[in-house]
Order: sequence, then C-alpha cells, then structure tokens
Amino acid sequence: MKIIIDTTENVAKRAAQLYVDLLSRNPQAVLGGATGSTPIPLYKELVKLNKEGVISFKDAKSFNLDEYVGLEGTHDQSYRYFMNDNLFNHIDIKMENTHVPSGIDISEPEKYDSEIEAAGGIDMQLLGIGVDGHIGFNEPGTPWDSLTHVVELEQNTREVNARFFNSIDEVPTHAVTMGIKTVMNARSIILIATGSSKAEIVKKFIEGPVTTEVPASILQLHPFVTVFLDHEAAALLEKKA
Ligand code: PGA
Repeated sequence: MKIIIDTTENVAKRAAQLYVDLLSRNPQAVLGGATGSTPIPLYKELVKLNKEGVISFKDAKSFNLDEYVGLEGTHDQSYRYFMNDNLFNHIDIKMENTHVPSGIDISEPEKYDSEIEAAGGIDMQLLGIGVDGHIGFNEPGTPWDSLTHVVELEQNTREVNARFFNSIDEVPTHAVTMGIKTVMNARSIILIATGSSKAEIVKKFIEGPVTTEVPASILQLHPFVTVFLDHEAAALLEKKA
C-alpha cells in the first residue's frame, strides 16, 4: 500500500491527479465510484478539471459500489441521485456509461460482476471507509470471496438514516453492494479517509492483522492500493512514510 498524507484540501487534489494520469493514458478507463461525504471534495476537483479541459470522461465508464434496494434514482437519498448530483451531471461522461447497482435483479446480484467483467474490469476503484472498517456495505464478517450481494441493513442504521426520509417505514431494509472480491478484482484502488473520526480504523486496517473483522484490512494484500489520508486521519499511524 502506498500511503499519502497531506492536508484535507491537497488529498482531493492529489487523488484527482490519479484520474488525470489514468484517463490520459487510457481514455476508455473503467472507474469504480463511491458515495459518502469523503469523496465530495474529490468530485468537486474532478468537475473543475473537466470544465478546464484538463480531463475528459467522454469515453470512460463507471460502476458504483452500492445502492439501496427499492429506491428509484430520482429519490434524493439514492446513491444514483448522489452520483448524478455530485459528479455525473457536471462532467462529460455519457450517462449510459454510468452504472449504479440499482434496478438489478436482486435474485442474481452477481450479474453486476459479469457486467463489470464485460466492460473490461475496473481500472481504478474509489473507496471510503466506515468507522467499523466497512467498504461499500461490506460490514465486519463479510467473506473475502463475496461478489456483489444483497445485505440487510441493521435496524440501527435504518434508525440513523430515518432523518433523511418522511418516516422510518420509507427507509430501505436492504442494500446491494459489490463484494470484497469484486473490489479486490479492480486493477488499482484508491481509498480516502479524512478527519479524526477515522484515525482509529485507519491505524487498524493499515497496521493491524488482515481479518474479516476489519473488511478494509484485505487491501494490504492488493498490489496497487493508494491510501490518501489527511493529517487527522493519519494521526495514530506508527509509520508515517
Ligand atoms: P463517509 O462514509 O465518507 O460519509 O465517512 C464512508 C463509508 O461509510 O464508506
């Protein structure tokens, strides 16, 4: 793993540079997308670079990590809506080349893996990390060999998210997520973690043992991972290379 530690602002800029490098080498690259608050500054930077003509997504494809089951892309809490609103509507990517695992047949979620494979595989997968070490909706205990699958949301997660909906009954009960193996199949991976709330889990997944109890720890075994951390998220690391 390559670890890059910088200011929060520079983390977004330096991660964006990896997209510039990849897309100038391979304009048809397949990108893996993520939602959450962490990637927003990176997406802002990509929009800026696209408007300035430094980067183009016109021949690129994208596959997102996860989505709630049963939320239409027009629902403002869906991850499709998030991606359109924060990135796709503001760059030159063709909407038909963007994929979020919504509307897929949830009796055969691994078809999403086949779609990714048919597109040539993911060249660069973006990840955030949860404070429990989750990547996508892969919570602690998820098997390493998992492909795209459906997960039942914890009651607690639904209660926390209820504030974004009219009532708890509207909060989805399930989500679909790329599995750990789907993520590990990507040719390269970027993980971004910012803020002091991530400091403990950052130390664990980088310096601790590889264990399904910390899903992101598997990334220690991937040959091309770049981890971008701000100073707060890196605070507990022993080795600040
Ligand atoms: P966050 O979420 O970027 O909002 O912290 C990360 C995650 O849960 O994967």
